[in-house]
Amino acid sequence: MLVFAASDKGGTGRSVTSANLAYQRALAGDHVAYVDFDFGSPTAAAVFDVPGAMRGTEDRGLHSYLEGEVAEPARIDVWRQTEHPLLRARPNQSGRLVLLPGDAGGGEFATGEDALERCIDLLLRLHSEFDLIMVDLSAGRSYAVDMVLAATAHPRMRSVPFRWLVFHRWTRQHVIAASGLVHKEHGIIAGGVARGHDEDALRAAIRFVRAAVPDPESPLWSHGSPAQAAWMQACDEALRRLAAEQRIGDSVVLGVVPLEPILQWREQLITEEDVLATQIANKETLEALEEIALRLTDDAYWGRP
Ligand SMILES: Nc1ncnc2c1ncn2[C@@H]1O[C@H](COP(=O)(O)OP(=O)(O)OP(=O)(O)O)[C@@H](O)[C@H]1O
Ligand SMILES: [Mg+2]
Repeated sequence: MLVFAASDKGGTGRSVTSANLAYQRALAGDHVAYVDFDFGSPTAAAVFDVPGAMRGTEDRGLHSYLEGEVAEPARIDVWRQTEHPLLRARPNQSGRLVLLPGDAGGGEFATGEDALERCIDLLLRLHSEFDLIMVDLSAGRSYAVDMVLAATAHPRMRSVPFRWLVFHRWTRQHVIAASGLVHKEHGIIAGGVARGHDEDALRAAIRFVRAAVPDPESPLWSHGSPAQAAWMQACDEALRRLAAEQRIGDSVVLGVVPLEPILQWREQLITEEDVLATQIANKETLEALEEIALRLTDDAYWGRP
């Protein structure tokens, strides 16, 4: 299964949440590849605590591969190369967790036919090796988005299942932007149909993830005044109405990740130890990530074409 992680805006939580979903699936035994197609800002290695590629790799990144400069992109075995003290020893029963990093200083680039063919080759190869392939795409209607829309519409990829996650924060601008990325004239659905996708099938394969959502009921806000609490409640309800009007309401939401203090301070994986042993992370955050990770492949949460 290919999972494309997109967002209209930057800083939505797309990379950090996707990395955590990849981690959760690998913990559960899946072989997982994380593909950093965020050409402008390839930061996945930082989330996995892999040294040497924190802002992209200097050696055989995905950008160099797609441009035909190298025959094979670099792979990083996260369990082996991470500096995260708890992840070093690959947990029992876990699957492979492999990061394909972007190039340092790569930048956005227009992809031609050759790059598209290489992209298809890569995705097919990964599909034969891994259970789940998370692909982090540059924000907005980027070249990366267009490339994977074209790749997945290609006859060579017909039999490869794919799904899309569109990340957004819980504010008016983010809700409207996320809806636009999918539904507007130049959005993912229209762009996909123009490249040969079936509209209903593509629509059924897109779900939204609300990230860093403040829960007005959470103890985090319990010190606020009654007026603040009432205001937050009203805002939350107004956002729900807006999301529904914008066709990104609850029925197409795969999950909600609460605002997590750790992630406000540091881009990282949230482990069970963070919740149970050191108690620095909220249990609700880990539960939300585990739940979304399971739902990625649970047909009950996806539309029918
Ligand atoms: N649930 C959360 N609670 C609090 N902060 C979060 C949460 N999820 C992500 N963040 C933080 O928000 C910031 C942006 O997240 P992230 O880098 O994942 O976004 P992005 O959409 O990939 O951004 P970019 O477009 O720059 O690649 C990071 O500092 C991250 O740690
Ligand atoms: Mg990112």
